[in-house]
Amino acid sequence: MPNEDRLRSRRNFIKYGSAAMLVPWVPAPVLAAADENRKYRLTASSTSIQLAGVPFPKTETWSFDRQSPGPLLRFRQGQPATVEVTNRLAQGITVHWHGLRIANPMDGVPILTQPPIAEGETFQYRFTPPDAGTFWYHSHMNTAEQVGRGLYGPIIVEERDAPPVDRDLVWVLDDWKLDQKAQIISDFDNPRDLARAGRLGNTVTINGKIPQALRVMAGERIRLRLINAANARVFALRFQRHRTLVIARDGQPHDPYEPGGPVVIGPAQRIDLMLDMTGEPGQRYSVLDAYYPQSPAQLTSLAYASETGPRKARGEEYPGLPRNRIPEPDLGDPLLQRIELAGGDLGQLGNAQFGDQRLEMTRLYLLGKMWAINEIVSTGYADPPLFSVRRGRTVVLDFRNHSAWPHPMHLHGHHFKVLEHSRDREVTGKWLDTVLLGPEESARVAFVADNPGDWLFHCHILGHARAGMMAVIRVT
Ligand code: C2O
Ligand code: CU
Repeated sequence: MPNEDRLRSRRNFIKYGSAAMLVPWVPAPVLAAADENRKYRLTASSTSIQLAGVPFPKTETWSFDRQSPGPLLRFRQGQPATVEVTNRLAQGITVHWHGLRIANPMDGVPILTQPPIAEGETFQYRFTPPDAGTFWYHSHMNTAEQVGRGLYGPIIVEERDAPPVDRDLVWVLDDWKLDQKAQIISDFDNPRDLARAGRLGNTVTINGKIPQALRVMAGERIRLRLINAANARVFALRFQRHRTLVIARDGQPHDPYEPGGPVVIGPAQRIDLMLDMTGEPGQRYSVLDAYYPQSPAQLTSLAYASETGPRKARGEEYPGLPRNRIPEPDLGDPLLQRIELAGGDLGQLGNAQFGDQRLEMTRLYLLGKMWAINEIVSTGYADPPLFSVRRGRTVVLDFRNHSAWPHPMHLHGHHFKVLEHSRDREVTGKWLDTVLLGPEESARVAFVADNPGDWLFHCHILGHARAGMMAVIRVT
């Protein structure tokens, strides 16, 4: 497209974009406008937020900068960034930059990589994001509760050169477990939740609000960045009558593909979609969520304006995003590590290692511990490493889920390439930082252990991690 046209359509988009978009998005203030280096300041505090919509009262949350999700942080690929975090909560916090392959001391895991940021204290995170894409940040202290109360936010690392779109939107998906007065139910250690599917809420939000229709215009091309910030909920989205193109997963672009079924996104995962607005002006199209068979529901809808848009997107195939550079695993001589996931209700696990004792699962349940990796129940962030690997070596993780519940398994500091997955063929060959294993599923993934340090490795159903499904992997 000639430059002039591009400018004109961008001007148009800004005009109607601000007036017609019902799902609000407020970018964070950039404190230092020094072009390349991005500097942000975040403050954690407890804040009332209108989550459930009138007539419900506001919900008391824990959040960054008095909003949940916290402000959108925009970084530049390969450029140093600083985030100064101040804690005004009555308990310690840390901030983990989920999916950013950064140096270990900045990874934000208490005890393992830094002391917690105590009440009234400030900590400066400095890092250089190597990959462009969609990521997120969240507290990693008392994680199930702090994230469950709202301490997280989205991150965009900007591509230097991405194919143009009319709008670039972020949907942070979450669900909240609220009582009649719209207050968060505090049973973060509810054993039924811990031992089963995790803490599923009763109120689903997009960007911290009960979803309203997304106003769109026929002809628009939209990049939609999905971030699943829920403690436990898996989403399976269907965009009625719209071609859905997946262009990146967990911040890593790949050849665009149309999924054979719904877009399934597990806790902590990100999926970037390219959506061409090919519907009819004035019409409404549902966005359905149907992961849990008992609750197929309309998440939101696409509401077309009666006029048509710039039609810039029509007719041209989307070429895909520029790839990030990740070292290719050497499968000739990998360190092969089995990862056996077991425990929970209906599970086969009889006993497991907990600290220096071997305990019956019935005993462990009473201690609030229900889950094990390789028959080891995590005692917390000070556990000895599950295994060590020399820097530069390729690791193959061979996952087996022996339980009746899903586990989105996340490795810090690295992305791994999926070699095979027993159910999800579409995920093969993709670079992920979190792989979703459904009940009894298995998968093999590989990565070059190129980032030295002690890295956390855990289920991102946060109650499962708290109840033992966590380990440390050491890269020396
Ligand atoms: Cu999203 Cu251990 O983290
Ligand atoms: Cu799990």
